[in-house]
Amino acid sequence: MILNAHLPTTLVKAVDDLKHGEIVALPTETVYGLAADATNGKAVAKVFAAKGRPTFNPLICHVSSVEMAKSFAEFNGIETNLLAHFWPGPLTIVASRKSGSRLHELVTAGLDTVAVRMPIGLTRDIISELDRPIAAPSANRSGHISPTSAAAVSASLGPEVGLVVDGGECPIGIESTIVRVVGHTIHLLRPGGITIEQLEAATGLTVVMPSAGGSVVAPGQLKSHYAPAAKVRLNAISLEEGEAFLGFGSVHRSEQPAVFRNLSETGDLHEAAANLFRMLNELDQMNPEVIAVSPIPNEGLGVAINDRLARAAAPRDAVKNQMT
Ligand code: TXA
Ligand code: MG
Repeated sequence: MILNAHLPTTLVKAVDDLKHGEIVALPTETVYGLAADATNGKAVAKVFAAKGRPTFNPLICHVSSVEMAKSFAEFNGIETNLLAHFWPGPLTIVASRKSGSRLHELVTAGLDTVAVRMPIGLTRDIISELDRPIAAPSANRSGHISPTSAAAVSASLGPEVGLVVDGGECPIGIESTIVRVVGHTIHLLRPGGITIEQLEAATGLTVVMPSAGGSVVAPGQLKSHYAPAAKVRLNAISLEEGEAFLGFGSVHRSEQPAVFRNLSETGDLHEAAANLFRMLNELDQMNPEVIAVSPIPNEGLGVAINDRLARAAAPRDAVKNQMT
């Protein structure tokens, strides 16, 4: 069932379902999340089942207040500074997990760390009303493109999810940035809605990208991910016969094939991030063999966009069962 987020009864129904251990798809400023009460193991298990997600992959805990976050996570000075700057908003902090909290073990997949973020808008109000953290991965089947609309949630998950709260298109359109503070550096586990430049400006610290073989990685950051059915060809300057095209910036009319979308005609990276998953999805639904994508500048939000595109273009087979 899809319910409009603006109806007052929708919040009541969503909170009630979550309280009773049901899973609910909720809009956030980044992408739609598939939410469960993070203190209820059975409810969290339903999330993994609906996504077809390997249970070793931990989930992000969403909170409505810093106080709620502190009930299950410990933040050092740098982390406290980060959350003061960027919450509510698209920054996820991987912090130490407090022992003896009500958070269910399944949420963190047995790790002694926990990923926490405070979303903007209705979902935050729902968490506040529920008065418990919610665990919520992106509301897509494992390995597929993250949904940025209620219709995309339903198309990806089908009837597995009872309630989808329709809050319209997600304004940011790309998932949160995930960081882990190690000593005096910020490790970027996943580029996302908050840019490296913003993190460095707010903290005066250096942001590093740990290599895939390093000690701290987001377990879900597997190479092949966000996979459309079509093959994806990156940095396409010209088009081959029969390719669909995902453009960026000014692209000449004569170069446009029938199956064409432009992430942002004006070359605006915010607009491009907001359009990315929807346009990939739309092109993919026209069943092209290949989607060719324009080069995207690797700065600001372009880092997160290029990260998702690189995953969409990566070979699929080796990691088929390990996507999130
Ligand atoms: O914007 C977002 O972050 C969206 C919305 C719904 O909030 N959520 C989202 O969740 O993208 P998900 O599950 O699709 O991605 C979460 C990532 C995974 O790569 C997971 O491995 C990583 O966070 N993660 C979760 N807990 C972690 C931990 N304790 N340490 C390292 N990585 C962790
Ligand atoms: Mg995901």
